Amino acid sequence: MLNGLRPLGLLGAWIVAFGCADNGDDSDGQETTGGGGDMLTWCDVEPILEAHCQRCHTEPQQNGAPFPLLTYEDTQEDERYEMMGGAVGRDFMPPVWLDVDPPVQPLPCSEKQTLVTWVDQGAAPPPANDPSCLATSPVLLPCQ
Ligand code: HEC
Repeated sequence: MLNGLRPLGLLGAWIVAFGCADNGDDSDGQETTGGGGDMLTWCDVEPILEAHCQRCHTEPQQNGAPFPLLTYEDTQEDERYEMMGGAVGRDFMPPVWLDVDPPVQPLPCSEKQTLVTWVDQGAAPPPANDPSCLATSPVLLPCQ
């Protein structure tokens, strides 16, 4: 599957290399930038949670959600990211079955693909040089 992502990864690397003049601090040498390598990070996932999960998984929790999913730390507590991958992977979340107004929309497949892949890759944190994701453009994987 990662092979299929190569063109996207390469493109991202070019954008990072040439589109962002002050990105010289590449000290850790890992391919963990959200816009760069094949490895997804929290920065790719946070906008998805904001749009599709934090309506309920917020603080205080709404509509019966069992925990917040606001921060990276929230996803790491009790290895919740494993549950997130499972719940989204089997279309249990977001809960289109819940009777709320406005109704819950299903997760678009590229968002689902991105979230599940982030979990499969080990639910990486934001890049060390961009802890608040200010300089990292989120990557959405193609639909499968
Ligand atoms: C409309 C409210 C709502 C939204 C939106 C929502 N959730 Fe939930 N979530 C719930 C509720 C309610 C439960 C408890 C369901 C149950 O156990 O019956 C839950 C449970 C969970 C669980 C625990 C599942 C388990 O196996 O016990 C996870 C993980 C989760 N949600 C992740 C997500 C993610 C990720 C998203 C966004 C893609 C999301 N949720 C969107 C309301 C919501």
